[in-house]
Amino acid sequence: MKLLIQNGTVVTCTDSFRGDVFLEDGLIHSVGANIRTQFPDAEVIDATGKLVLPGAIDGHTHIEMPLGETHSSDSYFTGTRAALFGGTTSIIDYANQVIGESLNKTLNDWQIRAKDQAVCDYGFHMTISDPREDFLKEIPGLLDAGVSSFKCFFAYKGRLMISDEAFVRLMKLSRRYGFLVNLHAENGDMVEEATNRLLSEGKKSPQFHALAHPREAEVEAVERAIRLAEQTGGNLNLVHITCEESVQAIAEAKKRGVHLFAETCPQYLILADDRYDLPGFEAAKWVLSPPLRKIHDRNALWKGLAEGTLDTVGTDHCPFSFEKQKTLRKDRFDRIPNGAPGIEDRVEILYHFGVKQDRISLNQWVDRCCTAPAKRYGIYPSKGDIVPGSDGDIVIFDPEKTHTISARTRHMNVDYNTYEGISITGKVESVFLRGIPVIKSSQYLGCPGSGQYLTRTAPEGC
Ligand code: URP
Ligand code: ZN
Ligand code: ZN
Repeated sequence: MKLLIQNGTVVTCTDSFRGDVFLEDGLIHSVGANIRTQFPDAEVIDATGKLVLPGAIDGHTHIEMPLGETHSSDSYFTGTRAALFGGTTSIIDYANQVIGESLNKTLNDWQIRAKDQAVCDYGFHMTISDPREDFLKEIPGLLDAGVSSFKCFFAYKGRLMISDEAFVRLMKLSRRYGFLVNLHAENGDMVEEATNRLLSEGKKSPQFHALAHPREAEVEAVERAIRLAEQTGGNLNLVHITCEESVQAIAEAKKRGVHLFAETCPQYLILADDRYDLPGFEAAKWVLSPPLRKIHDRNALWKGLAEGTLDTVGTDHCPFSFEKQKTLRKDRFDRIPNGAPGIEDRVEILYHFGVKQDRISLNQWVDRCCTAPAKRYGIYPSKGDIVPGSDGDIVIFDPEKTHTISARTRHMNVDYNTYEGISITGKVESVFLRGIPVIKSSQYLGCPGSGQYLTRTAPEGC
């Protein structure tokens, strides 16, 4: 298939220019101003007035994530289709080890779940919650199988939290083998203490979720992880960073040469903890961890993104139906399934609140949503850029289209939207995955199972 996307504004992490992109056999063949005359037999797509970007990479999703008697509500089909509608052509999803089960089994289980369902390309981070020696020995084999990043938790005491000793071991292995350690940085003991105190005072409604996850718990965990990364020389990636003091600690560490990366998410950039003041059970929609913070934290996160202290924006997409799942354990805030939807919203939100409102540049938008995640997660340059030889993953974006975000018009399998009612300018119009149109004029054209597994290599810089 030969496709010529012509006369758009091609935007990469370093450049923006009026030009054409020619795709052949699933790859980007040529990019430039006025190259159209060289390809007279190509099917032409006119992108006049539109932005032409690399397909975005969401490095933080939880699709069909098991949680107690339920699982997050998007299947690999609905979740990855929603990703495409939002301009995301690759995701790195979290495969969660069950305590007592091997990492190889975990990978196999997730592969089976995704294989015939996914419609965008996908890879897996592996969550390690049982770091016994036998399981850590599986890591080299997993690297060969394309899993080049692992996640662990300083939070969720008694379930997922690992000790500092295990974390140090993992960091040393990351240095030896060249993989990335993604960390959920909240002090699990502090969260446990705050939760128990609130519950003993009869404070059980979702309004108290944020008080149970104080900012100090994040800051302590971030600072501790940075020190341990510094001592071990391991490869640390702090995910879903939410507050000003964390950004400061990361900036200082980077300045003194600690090998470190960091991610934030759209919900922390544009929402705040006033959502927990909403009456009744409404606040449960934003029961996610870490919780939403203060307005001054949002400003610090934007500044961190603009200055490169924060490297990437992932969604932490982890949807649970408000009516059917968030209510499962209605009587206690600490039992409400944690997480919120967002896989479809990220690229447009970052454009409206970031680029249009002059917080980040057009090129930084592409970098934080596309290029930096591709580099960080070992899929660059086949993903995340518009250069000859890269996969033909392209988004045509209408920078002028104004619309209002709503669960009614989004495609995620969930009955509410984290950003319901927010009006934004900028909309994903068409999406190509490996040269094939999958979204055209906001209509989905793909079929289940057309997404490919990403055999990821060592992240850049590891
Ligand atoms: O609340 C959240 N973020 N749920 C997903 C799991 C995690 O900690 O990332
Ligand atoms: Zn987490
Ligand atoms: Zn997560």
